[in-house]
Amino acid sequence: MRVLFFGDIEGKPGRKAVSRTLPELCERHRVELVGANIENAAGGFGITREVYDQLLEMGIDFMTSGNHVWDKKETVQNIDHFQRMLRPANFSERAPGKGQLILSSKSGPLAVWNLTGRIFMAPAEDPFALAEKMLKQLPAEVKAVFIDFHGEATSEKNAFGWFMDGKVSAVIGTHTHIQTADEKILPQGTAYITDVGMCGPVNSVIGIDTSQALERFTTGVPHHFEVASGPALASAVVLDIDETTGRARSIERIQRIIES
Ligand SMILES: [Fe+2]
Ligand SMILES: [Fe+2]
Repeated sequence: MRVLFFGDIEGKPGRKAVSRTLPELCERHRVELVGANIENAAGGFGITREVYDQLLEMGIDFMTSGNHVWDKKETVQNIDHFQRMLRPANFSERAPGKGQLILSSKSGPLAVWNLTGRIFMAPAEDPFALAEKMLKQLPAEVKAVFIDFHGEATSEKNAFGWFMDGKVSAVIGTHTHIQTADEKILPQGTAYITDVGMCGPVNSVIGIDTSQALERFTTGVPHHFEVASGPALASAVVLDIDETTGRARSIERIQRIIES
């Protein structure tokens, strides 16, 4: 089972980078399911129904999120519209939405989980304990499990990858918007990368207009943030999963720049 997953989509440049690269990557890698982290897809903050529909039309089958998921009021108000979207499973039990999705493909089912880290992040339940609990509740016929672990600290993401080794197909980090070069298959067969990176403007501070971000850092005064413009970067991974065992065969890291 081949899965293509795009890192945090940042506003319009991020959507452009995805739409321009998705068809070619799907064809080249014979991809069956496409996912993306969409927490910044609408103007850099959150998601709207319009943007969600646009991403579905591009061919994205499942969407994950993180700390920015509720940035737009309409997301909570219309949560039933976002059926293919997850928020971290270790958010409050009272939070709207869901943290797990089970998708079908020609090669069989794929469970997708979204979890958030707790280091330099808003308070959340223990992702390690919850992942163990979710594993026990997984239907027996579901062998392939994809996890988007949304976290700031490399140590926490790295530890979580090792914790899940041999138990799930992939632990893919998101949130920092900076791609790491440590993709690997862990000894027991779990594909891992600390951060898949961003789909968004190349010339930016993690997607935000550089002068606005610098103003904030140099003065300490909160500043209005807008998504930067110019060339866009698509960051992704392609996974090959043995659907009979749930083990990953390979993980390939991808970065493409779209000049205009
Ligand atoms: Fe993000
Ligand atoms: Fe985030």
